[in-house]
Amino acid sequence: MRITLTAIKADIGSVGGHIQPSRRLLETVLEYVKQHHRGLLIDFRVTYTGDDIAILCTHTGGVGNEDVHRLAWEAFKAGTDVAKDQGLYGAGQDLLKDAFAGNVRGLGPAVAEMDIEERTSEPFLFFAADKTDPGAYNLPLYLAFADPMYCSGLILSPGMFQGFSFTIMDVSHVEADRVITLNAPEELYDMAALLRDPERFVIESIHSRQTGEQAVAVSTTRLHNIAGKYTGKDDPIMLVRVQGAFPATGEVLAPFNLGAYVAGFMRGSHNGPLMPVKQNTGTSFFDGPPIVSCAAYCVHHGRLSGAVDAFDHPYWDRVRQKVSDKATEIRRQGFFGNAMLPYAELEYGGIVQKLKDLDQRFQLR
Ligand code: 13P
Ligand code: 13P
Ligand code: MG
Ligand code: MG
Ligand code: MG
Repeated sequence: MRITLTAIKADIGSVGGHIQPSRRLLETVLEYVKQHHRGLLIDFRVTYTGDDIAILCTHTGGVGNEDVHRLAWEAFKAGTDVAKDQGLYGAGQDLLKDAFAGNVRGLGPAVAEMDIEERTSEPFLFFAADKTDPGAYNLPLYLAFADPMYCSGLILSPGMFQGFSFTIMDVSHVEADRVITLNAPEELYDMAALLRDPERFVIESIHSRQTGEQAVAVSTTRLHNIAGKYTGKDDPIMLVRVQGAFPATGEVLAPFNLGAYVAGFMRGSHNGPLMPVKQNTGTSFFDGPPIVSCAAYCVHHGRLSGAVDAFDHPYWDRVRQKVSDKATEIRRQGFFGNAMLPYAELEYGGIVQKLKDLDQRFQLR
């Protein structure tokens, strides 16, 4: 059976700063989808990570389906009304345009979706991150899909011997989607040359070269491209199909034990280590650290199984402690050097005015 997996997420307000949505807000979004999904969706789940609410759904309408996108937009609008009513912080933060225009892409919410021919057993992972941007997934995806040091399936599973193709987007290009497709393993060094710069080059999708099937879809929204100013971090979501011709679940999860430094953290302006967390975790220390959750599902005839919380396991407790130490360490140097993002990322925020004022006071000697 051919189905579409669609995940759409937005920050529409949160309690106590940028921490997590209120219960009533979550229930409003869930209730809206429940009331309006008939004849459109096969199944759906509503979850949150940090201050972002995600709607994960299945349907047969294809990628970019106007009715599905409108439903998510309207659910987030209904949620925003409640967020305003409750006086939540940043009510409607990610809804950057006034009106729905056929598709939520370019309006603020993040989207990850793919059309798939459902396998007899179709396991997949839904990742949601907060206080970071889409490039945060570059390294884990590279390691899980292209490096046999992390993905043993590349040498053990014949279905993966031909490798994967990576479609990478230049998210600095605002006028249109600027993309390149590179093949692993032959073009690994070319891929690395781009993926090393996660603020500019972002993995958008990955396909099996053996079957042509899509394995990965990542949201690529850069909010400052839409708003022209800093309106919060992009907080990316991602769908990853696993097993069979794709890496095993554990191979996809493994690289997240690095707690790699990513852009985001406080005011979206710093570097911090990405912490793998349990479902429905908020943020805390320095509005972070950047967090990522992973819900594992099987989908059958479009019906979703219950979610298994992939990072809720004793192994990851130790990783979380290690990541906390990394976060503490980099925060010790405050604003200095690599603790903060380079100017190109800050130029959508208030520091621009300060630097302009200071520039006037410089004198040539
Ligand atoms: P099981 O025997 O538990 O199914 O494990 C198979 C496997 O290959 C895990 O990576
Ligand atoms: P969010 O994008 O998660 O709202 O984060 C914004 C921010 O500036 C946190 O300090
Ligand atoms: Mg927020
Ligand atoms: Mg957020
Ligand atoms: Mg955000």
